[in-house]
Amino acid sequence: MNNKKKICQSVLPATIAACMIAMSSGSMAADSDPIKVGVMLPFSGVYAGLGESTRNGLKQALKEKGNTIAGRAVEFIEMDTEAKPARAPEITSSLVDNQKADFVIGPVHSGVAMGMIKTIKGKDSIMIIPNAGANAATGAFCQPNVFRTSFSSWQTAFPMGKEAYDMGYKKIVTMSWNYGFGKESLEAFNESFSKAGGEVIKEMLVPFPKTEFQSYLTEIASIKPDAVFVFFAGGGAVKFVKDYDAMGLKGKIPLLGSGFLTEGTTTAQGPAAEGVMTTLHYADALDIPKNKSFRQDYETLYGKPADLFAVQGYDAGQLIVDAVTATNGNTADKAALIQQMGKLEIDSPRGAFHFSKAHNPIQTIYLRKVVDGQNTVVKTSYAGLEDPARGCKL
Ligand code: BEZ
Repeated sequence: MNNKKKICQSVLPATIAACMIAMSSGSMAADSDPIKVGVMLPFSGVYAGLGESTRNGLKQALKEKGNTIAGRAVEFIEMDTEAKPARAPEITSSLVDNQKADFVIGPVHSGVAMGMIKTIKGKDSIMIIPNAGANAATGAFCQPNVFRTSFSSWQTAFPMGKEAYDMGYKKIVTMSWNYGFGKESLEAFNESFSKAGGEVIKEMLVPFPKTEFQSYLTEIASIKPDAVFVFFAGGGAVKFVKDYDAMGLKGKIPLLGSGFLTEGTTTAQGPAAEGVMTTLHYADALDIPKNKSFRQDYETLYGKPADLFAVQGYDAGQLIVDAVTATNGNTADKAALIQQMGKLEIDSPRGAFHFSKAHNPIQTIYLRKVVDGQNTVVKTSYAGLEDPARGCKL
């Protein structure tokens, strides 16, 4: 029977509270020597839903193994980043230097990721990014002890530029929150759209995490582009898609995006999301046995449907399980652990993937459309797309 103990402690000043949830199903020896997993996710703010899904997926992967790996218990130390980049160095340092975490899982926000990477560089903990797409994380700032189970900004937006042109759109307005990931997404879209022959006639940047979109939508209505390409996620995506419909743009100017626009949000977006087309490395309806069993188990555990963020958290958990199993439970030799991680093939609900030399997934990108509240697959947009890892010296 599982032995579960919950210790909550305030380890840092101000609002940071850490909850250590130690779970074990094994012996006294395993209890005394747990594998420490720091978790840095947004549990509040506009990305709170993404953080919760990621944590759920991570825990699901460990639960499947009875919360033990190679006979060792797993201890989670959870920190709320609030998606605030300024907090990243302090929280990372507390997990790495004070708690001596073997792994640090996080974050969701690219700005937080860059702060974490700078702090974890050269340290004895391994960082697994379960979402943030900042190109530099597996590009110019790539590190031996940093892996990503999600995507680069480039991977999720580059394919849509060509798709949009092939759909017949020649003049497009692009829009996103004004921070690293959003700007990189618009850049990647523009790279393939302009190469195909299209023109981005206006780029709009909204301060993060603002969700007042009316003035931007009024301007789009007056510009009358062939289509609009955006990056928004979480609460911002829900608000944007609903506002786009409420302002009468849906049905007149097609709405395109990187897939975050309709991930984990379609229930809240309702009919406003129907027909929205996006590109992403996952779709709810992917016809893969592993996806079906994962989604069924997730719904049983958490009482709601899984989304991409849950998949990426689950794969971060699988990466830990598979790597520590391969080293027979040895987490002290980090070089050996990193070597194993780089060689693994992850049996993901998105389809099996392996890592590039820069430690980013090489994966298939799908063109998707929301039909009856589900992200369905229209077609494969790019099979086995590898991020160019610009500037990575690994
Ligand atoms: C990012 O900041 O990298 C990000 C946030 C939400 C969804 C996708 C990417």
